[in-house]
Amino acid sequence: MANKTVFIFGASRGIGLGLVKEFASRGWHVVASERSRSDDLHALEGDSLRIVTADVTEPGSYADLGLADGGLDAIILNAGITGASHQSAQQATSDEVAEVMMTNAFGPTRAAKALLPKLKDGGTLAVMSSLMGSIADSSGGYELYRTSKTALNMLAKGVAEQDAAARDIEVLSLHPGWVQTDMGGPNATLTVEESVKGLADVVEGAGGGGGFRYVDYSGKTLPF
Ligand SMILES: NC(=O)c1ccc[n+]([C@@H]2O[C@H](COP(=O)([O-])OP(=O)(O)OC[C@H]3O[C@@H](n4cnc5c(N)ncnc54)[C@H](OP(=O)(O)O)[C@@H]3O)[C@@H](O)[C@H]2O)c1
Repeated sequence: MANKTVFIFGASRGIGLGLVKEFASRGWHVVASERSRSDDLHALEGDSLRIVTADVTEPGSYADLGLADGGLDAIILNAGITGASHQSAQQATSDEVAEVMMTNAFGPTRAAKALLPKLKDGGTLAVMSSLMGSIADSSGGYELYRTSKTALNMLAKGVAEQDAAARDIEVLSLHPGWVQTDMGGPNATLTVEESVKGLADVVEGAGGGGGFRYVDYSGKTLPF
């Protein structure tokens, strides 16, 4: 049987880079994107990894990545930012709101819709959300980041129902755990390796039959 292929959008460092290593070690072909050259990503370049350049906020940058229609088994839209350091709804400028919403919610959704034809029927479309996007779980704080991930969950569910279901593509809103990356910081509870192993298990076990799930790296369903 031919190797499976995953496209990881936002793979220059952190969880995205870890996912490239994890899927490659499982025998998958990987297409991985960077915004600007990542030496860590290029160090992995080989027969099973192809590197492309794309920005999730610029649809023109991923309009022609040389991906064949129906050629992908999974897409993982991982790119994300924390947003302005104050994280305050009161202080935020319009540009700050636009940046975090475009990068974390509307950008990935546009990319999902544009890239859907590249997925096989019965494939898996995953967006990298966060438990911080859960309204049920929230005690407030991190207002910019949280609302962008809540919006992403809503938009991803819409893609599942409006765009993906007819082709039996399952859509996942993933929470990677609190992970030791530039974003998560050194006090996070999980290493990148622990998180991506769980995330890859979840993605490998998904697909087929359509539907939508908001789940963490261990496969546990999260409350909206
Ligand atoms: N770490 C955690 O504890 C945690 C928890 C919950 C959810 N998450 C989510 O997991 C994902 C990855 O987080 P991380 O911890 O690995 O963060 P990170 O170390 O800060 O890496 C972020 C990645 O996103 C890319 N990116 C940012 N803006 C982009 C854009 N406009 N277009 C394309 N790529 C872009 C970055 O590329 P550059 O190198 O070019 O900037 C980098 O590859 C994010 O969506 C984040 O919200 C993380």
